[in-house]
Amino acid sequence: MKERSVYPQKENKGDRRIRIIGSGAREHSLFRLIQQSSWVAHLEVAPGNAGTIGSNVPIAATDISRQVQDAKNRGIDTVIVGPEEPLALGIRNRMNEVGIDVFGPNQEGARIESDKWFAIQIMQEAGVPHPPTRAFFDSEGAKAYIRYRKPENIVVKENGLMAAKGVTVPDSIKEADQAVDVAFGLKYKSGEPVLVQDRIKGREASVLALVDKNGHIVCLPSSQDHKRVGENDTGLNTGGMGAFAPTPTITPQLEKRIMQEILDPIVEKMREKEIYYEGILYAGLMIDKDGNPIVIEFNCRGGDPEFPVISVLVEEGVDFVEAVDAVRNGTLTAKHLRFLENEVAVGIVAASHGYPQDPETGFPISGLHKQLDSGSFLFHAGTRVNEDHVETSGGRVYLAVGRGSDFREAKERATKVVEERDFEGKQFRRDIANNVIFSKRRKII
Ligand code: GLY
Repeated sequence: MKERSVYPQKENKGDRRIRIIGSGAREHSLFRLIQQSSWVAHLEVAPGNAGTIGSNVPIAATDISRQVQDAKNRGIDTVIVGPEEPLALGIRNRMNEVGIDVFGPNQEGARIESDKWFAIQIMQEAGVPHPPTRAFFDSEGAKAYIRYRKPENIVVKENGLMAAKGVTVPDSIKEADQAVDVAFGLKYKSGEPVLVQDRIKGREASVLALVDKNGHIVCLPSSQDHKRVGENDTGLNTGGMGAFAPTPTITPQLEKRIMQEILDPIVEKMREKEIYYEGILYAGLMIDKDGNPIVIEFNCRGGDPEFPVISVLVEEGVDFVEAVDAVRNGTLTAKHLRFLENEVAVGIVAASHGYPQDPETGFPISGLHKQLDSGSFLFHAGTRVNEDHVETSGGRVYLAVGRGSDFREAKERATKVVEERDFEGKQFRRDIANNVIFSKRRKII
């Protein structure tokens, strides 16, 4: 049933003019959700990709001045921000100054991701469980501490936004030292610290939650990312090579603890500091051997590939714009964004050769015209139109998602989508979700 009173009075159904900012699979999945909304007259993506062609506005996500001026000129009323960079640059603050609403936190709230040392300090104050972490402002101190703690027990993190590439999980002193040198090479002038954090062993999980203006929090289905580029979790860290949702690791009891011990206290602590966080809050967690959730990182936006994978589990008939408005109005409840209860989803990223370090791009993608089977989805990422064809333009090229009644069925669907869409140098992991497909703990308890 609709609650008319929570929606903005100045706007009528079918009048809304919405812009999505970003160009990845996450933004393509937001586009798909919002296209189904009955509130929207006009939907565009800036800058978008080949999956959103026809609705793209060619302005870089980080070109804040042009984004603001252009959105104002085009009569946009709501901007939905996908990636972290524009949020960290204060796009919400700037859009709000010209009367445009934004789904996503302001610059102060985005520090939870853009300033990892700030996140550690606020977790400390809020009593949120996180690994012991030391900040170093000189490389000698960091290297001495790494020798004392041993490289296999720590991770090295750069403090700024690094799209997951600023995290090194070293196997040797040499690798750890290199990570410190790279970090200080990049950060020395800005005076940013390098963080050395204890390495926590356990099961990984991502919990994304919507947070509204009044601090109400609603969790989306949990998920698990696969960050390493190679099968069996080998090779370099990436933005994510695939994900599945929901993860059986996060039982309803554990979700309750995550809400009570992590999400509630961190949102409350921010509010105490007059940081009124709004949008998606992403907790990257490790569940330790005793079953305790520990925060490895917070992100200020939906995960990619986690969000697009979760998005295919949204119940038919849910209007995503109503959830966006409930966040803005401070009236969010679980009924604004309902999810299929007996379905699961698996997403597999197809990436360019050389990703994550040096992706080779500009290759035509074949098979895009093929019809998708029911329960199969394709979200474009690093793709662009070049005259009469679509070609690769980035490290992660597209995300294939399958939905099904179990993980095996969902993965078969996703795999078919990847196998049918090809480009030179395509790499993807065939082991996404194997841990749940071949586990005895397959059922969500
Ligand atoms: N998939 C990890 C992230 O979005 O940060």
